[in-house]
Amino acid sequence: MNRLHSLFLTLFTLCLLAAGNGWATQAAVDDPPIIDFSERFLPTVARHGMVVGPEQLAAEIGSSMMKQGGNVVDAAVATGFALAVTYPRAGNLGGGGFMLIHLADKNQQVFIDYRETAPAAATRDMFLDKDGEEDLMREYFSPQASGVPGTVAGLLHALEKYGSMSRQQVLAPAIALAEQGIPVSFALNYELAERGERLRQDPESLRLFFKPDGSAYEVGETWRQPDLAWTLRQIAEHGAAAFYQGEIAQRIVALMTAGNGLITLKDLADYRTIEREPVRGTFHEFEIVSAPPPSSGGVHIVQILNMLKNDDLAALGHNSAAYLHLLAEAMKLAYADRSEYLGDPDFTDVPVGALTDERYATRQRKRIDPDHATPSADIAPGRAMLPESKDTTHYSVADEKGNMVSNTYTLNASFGSAVSVPGTGMLLNNEMGDFAARPGLPNMFGLVQGERNKIEGGKRPLSSMSPTIVFRNGQPWLATGSPGGSRIITTVLQTLVNAMAFDMNVATAGVSSRIHHQWMPDELLAEEGISPDTIKLLEQMGHKVVAGGMTIGRTQSIMIENGWLLGATDTRRPQGWVAGY
Ligand code: GLY
Repeated sequence: MNRLHSLFLTLFTLCLLAAGNGWATQAAVDDPPIIDFSERFLPTVARHGMVVGPEQLAAEIGSSMMKQGGNVVDAAVATGFALAVTYPRAGNLGGGGFMLIHLADKNQQVFIDYRETAPAAATRDMFLDKDGEEDLMREYFSPQASGVPGTVAGLLHALEKYGSMSRQQVLAPAIALAEQGIPVSFALNYELAERGERLRQDPESLRLFFKPDGSAYEVGETWRQPDLAWTLRQIAEHGAAAFYQGEIAQRIVALMTAGNGLITLKDLADYRTIEREPVRGTFHEFEIVSAPPPSSGGVHIVQILNMLKNDDLAALGHNSAAYLHLLAEAMKLAYADRSEYLGDPDFTDVPVGALTDERYATRQRKRIDPDHATPSADIAPGRAMLPESKDTTHYSVADEKGNMVSNTYTLNASFGSAVSVPGTGMLLNNEMGDFAARPGLPNMFGLVQGERNKIEGGKRPLSSMSPTIVFRNGQPWLATGSPGGSRIITTVLQTLVNAMAFDMNVATAGVSSRIHHQWMPDELLAEEGISPDTIKLLEQMGHKVVAGGMTIGRTQSIMIENGWLLGATDTRRPQGWVAGY
């Protein structure tokens, strides 16, 4: 690189920093961030701390925690509570999720499972009517749809064990937003409109999310949530006990009693977060650390990478027909295993070691015909998975020391069950829908799922949430994750492969067009941007391609290069945000 080019690059970087994130006081920049300006999508750059999330106010709150001396976990917890106020479609107190933390000074990764659990009274056939048909309204949009929420326990567990700030400090910004109100953004207005009909059917959701006359808040109007402020203040004052044993618990159970729900005071008091060993895999000089069961995410990301790692993917060409064929065939093999082997490891044996074993991947790779798509029915006839919600949300946090947090949490569907708990300002999840309601029998789509994910009291439903951290030559390098139900796994996978094998920067890796195949139904989804010629070639190989008309996932990612934090929010949905300093 000549000197002029180098000077230009440094100056450009400094402008980017100053303009993008209020960076002002960095005295000298010795090593400019590694950015290839020939790429069409560029990340946002910061030096000290960064939060990338689905919404601006919450991301800025997380970043401000680090600016005030907090660590990445303080930032992640503050962001999680703030999103419950600013991003109600998926940010939550009444749901659950998974948090993956990298602690740089100990070189240790911690995985916190705060997934919802089925109430003790839940039973295998609880969503079947007298004719054995699935009652979808009860399963998805009633008090029975909810698992015991894990978010409050999970975020506070992370804070108490790995954070440095007090509950009051990390909750104060969320309380202020709920109390003083937030300006309704285009995204919030749109999301409420999209789910308006369902939300209006629940009297408490109608009261919370709409004006007293039932009309929607317009963009720019102030939306206040005093009940949610009360709930957050209870949590700040009394900790998790307020939610699981105190007045909030009483209000949840009052709703359950009135609406034939199953969650009891004992279910709430019994809720526990669980620290689990994450799933690990390698891909050339990279180590991948991701979500273990009850998520299927880490297992299948590693399994697919194992199948791909001995191919020269760069030589095939990014999003070429040959590459996409290989990717789709590997996805099919992995998702077939998902339907058979995955579930809550505390209730069923999940063969994580066997599924992520490289020798198994070598055998599976040999089953892929380079020229023809194998029909899904020939891979494992008669077994398939239930469709999962495309909602959920993810955010990533990093600091200059290499600490990282990758957090995915959810209400399941957008706005969960659409049922709010009176007097709390809080929506409940519909995570019970992630269980197999009719194991062994076809669901309404003619699909079948195995027994390992049947409903049982105290069990956690199978998830696809895949908060992931990648290390390069032993150094923390990339934190990412996505919403999207079963599409989460293939979204995160392609983001990783784009960065690791195709050398894309973090923004391009997240934005590039994606495909998705989940074995059943036997169709290959292709986003806009996969060329019609490529689609024709894939069809000639035997793939049933469904092209355009949808997006796949929405990543929120941070990459650390040369000591710089490079952040990218996926443009597939509006108003995500990179907050850094
Ligand atoms: N509810 C979406 C997931 O857990 O994968």
